[in-house]
Amino acid sequence: MVSKLFDISGKTALITGAGQGIGRSIALALAEYGANIIINYRSNDALAEDTRLEVEKLGRKAWLWKYDLFSDSLKADFCLFREMNQLGIDILVLDASIQIRKEWDKVTLSEFNSQMTVNLRSSLELIQCCVPSMASKGWGRIVTLGSVQQNRPSKQMIVYAASKAGQYNMVKNLAWQLGNKGITINNLAPGVISTVRNKDVLSNDTVKNRIERNIPLGYIGVPDDLAAMALLLCSNAGRYITGTDIYVDGGMSLPE
Ligand SMILES: NC(=O)c1ccc[n+]([C@@H]2O[C@H](COP(=O)([O-])OP(=O)(O)OC[C@H]3O[C@@H](n4cnc5c(N)ncnc54)[C@H](OP(=O)(O)O)[C@@H]3O)[C@@H](O)[C@H]2O)c1
Repeated sequence: MVSKLFDISGKTALITGAGQGIGRSIALALAEYGANIIINYRSNDALAEDTRLEVEKLGRKAWLWKYDLFSDSLKADFCLFREMNQLGIDILVLDASIQIRKEWDKVTLSEFNSQMTVNLRSSLELIQCCVPSMASKGWGRIVTLGSVQQNRPSKQMIVYAASKAGQYNMVKNLAWQLGNKGITINNLAPGVISTVRNKDVLSNDTVKNRIERNIPLGYIGVPDDLAAMALLLCSNAGRYITGTDIYVDGGMSLPE
């Protein structure tokens, strides 16, 4: 039965940026199909707590990990958190990111560092932390959140786009190196999805209409559009998919 392939009961998933938006939707989808969830977030306690309650309502265990991924001691601190809670990670979803809109010649060093560290370096560090336990079980799933900007960068987000392109390059590299350990790694590239980060832009009807005219399907996506695809990649349904870049963008990355 195909539906059984989506069952991830007994797996533990760490999702960064799971308090809101796409990360929260992915957390709830994985919980719905059986996984226990570690909710990483940076600052918004109320939203993270709400995600925790929703996961528990689905009958799964949930842990809150309030932690800024910008930290230099990420690996040591994550090891401590994992040991204190006696957690082995089977599924890692790297969703948190920082996006700063600015012209290329105005970007400061600290803006460059924050985006590159949270969007790229922390991904590598968390993968380094989680792969040994996945490899010892011969089963693991890693999903990164990229962006349509990996290939068609926006002029206002030069560093963000570069960080996402770098992350996808890392996915391809690791697909080769982790495949023989039973670990898959894939990238999901969203187009324009209705989340808090786009609230201001999408509240302007003229801008929203212009964006929608550039999307073949003609409308903005929602976080659950990503959650369904993440579930596929994180379950046995996606066991033969690795190193891919899956666009969830209503077709907006297509050339005109
Ligand atoms: N929405 C889109 O249209 C779109 C398009 C392309 C790609 N994406 C990608 O999809 C992913 C999710 O996007 P989204 O729109 O759902 O994001 P979002 O609503 O802005 O949420 C981002 C989450 O990341 C957390 N976060 C940010 N910086 C962090 C840090 N330094 N350490 C730990 N957590 C941190 C935030 O936590 P706090 O709120 O607690 O600070 C928040 O929960 C991102 O990687 C984004 O680049 C989104």
